[in-house]
Amino acid sequence: MLVLGIESSCDECAASVIKDGKIILSNVIATQIEDHKIYMGVVPEIASRIHTQWISGVVKESLEIAGIEATELDGIAVANRPGLSGSLLVGVSFAKGLAYSLGIPIIGVDHVKAHLYAPHLEYDIEYPYIGLLVSGGHTVIAKVTGFDQMEIMGSTIDDACGEAFDKVAKFYNFGYPGGKIIDDLAKKGDPKAFNFPRSSLHKGDHKYDVSYSGLKTAVINQIDQFWDGVSEKSPENIAASFQHIAIDVLIKRVQKAIKDTGIKRVVAGGGVTANSYLRERLLELRGVNSYFPSLSLCTDNGAMIASYGSEFLKRGISDDLSLTAISRVMA
Ligand code: KG4
Ligand code: ZN
Repeated sequence: MLVLGIESSCDECAASVIKDGKIILSNVIATQIEDHKIYMGVVPEIASRIHTQWISGVVKESLEIAGIEATELDGIAVANRPGLSGSLLVGVSFAKGLAYSLGIPIIGVDHVKAHLYAPHLEYDIEYPYIGLLVSGGHTVIAKVTGFDQMEIMGSTIDDACGEAFDKVAKFYNFGYPGGKIIDDLAKKGDPKAFNFPRSSLHKGDHKYDVSYSGLKTAVINQIDQFWDGVSEKSPENIAASFQHIAIDVLIKRVQKAIKDTGIKRVVAGGGVTANSYLRERLLELRGVNSYFPSLSLCTDNGAMIASYGSEFLKRGISDDLSLTAISRVMA
C-alpha cells in the first residue's frame, strides 16, 4: 500500500510517501523559518500564502524521490486538524483535488495524534503505553490503548511546553525558533544557576497536569539580573535553568502515570521531543521502555501523517470530499 502524506498545519510544507504504513520512501520538508524569523513567530497569512506557492513542488518532489507515479498511490492522508486554518486549508484542498483526479480515498488526520504515532515508524511498539505529546501547541499525557484510542490523563493548563521555550527565547532575543536555540545554549550552562519555580499542580484532578505560565513569567522576570551580568554565562545559565524545570515537570508527571497505571512503556512525540535533555531523561527512566522519534520525525513532517493515515486506510476508513480544515480540536 502506497500512501502520500501531506502536512501544512503551520510553517512546514511537507509531503512523504510511505509504503505499507512503515517504510519511508520519501520525506520532503520545506520550512518557512526564514520567512517568519523577522517576526519572531509564525504569521498565519504569510504561512498560508507560502504553502500555496510550495505545495505542488513539495508533493512532486516527494513522488520523484519515492520513485513512483501519482497513479500508483492507494490513498492520500492529509493533516486537517488542528492548526492554522489558512495553512491547513491549502493542504486539504490540494489533497482533495489530487484524490479526486486519481479516484483514490482521502483521509483527514489529526496532526497531534500523528505526532504521537511517529515513533511507530521506527519501532514495533505494543499497546498500551503512556503517551507524552509535547509540541508548540500541545502538552498532553495520555494512556494510549490503540492506534486511535487514548485517554487523556493530563495536559497543560496554560502554555504548551514548546510555546514556553519559544516565548522565553523571544523575550531574551536568543533567536528563532526558540526550542533548539535554548537546547543548544543549555548545554553550556548551569541548570542550578537560577532557582525557578515549578507549578504546584500535583493534587486531585490535576495530578498529571502541568503549567508553564508561572515558570515562563519567573524566567522573564530574571531579566534585570540577566542584564546586570549576574554571571558571565547568563544566556547559557538562563537557558539551562529554564530547560531543567520545563523538562523535569514533564518527567515527574510521566513517572506518576507509570506508577499509577503500572504501564512500563512510554512513547513521546512532537517538536519538543527533539530536546536533548528530554531524550536523556526519558532514557534514564528505570525499568521502562522509552521510545521517541529520530530528530527528522520529531517536528512537523508528512511521514507521520502518511503512516498514521495508513492505519485508517488499511481498515477501509476514509473521508469524503467534503473534508475540511478544523483549527481547534476538542480534547
Ligand atoms: O511539533 P512541532 O514541530 O509543531 C507543532 O505541532 O507545534 O513543534 C514545534 C515546537 C516549537 O515550540 C519548538 O520550539 C519546539 O517544538 N522544539 C524544541 C526543540 N526543537 C523544537 N523545544 C525544545 N528543544 C528542542 N530541541
Ligand atoms: Zn506539529
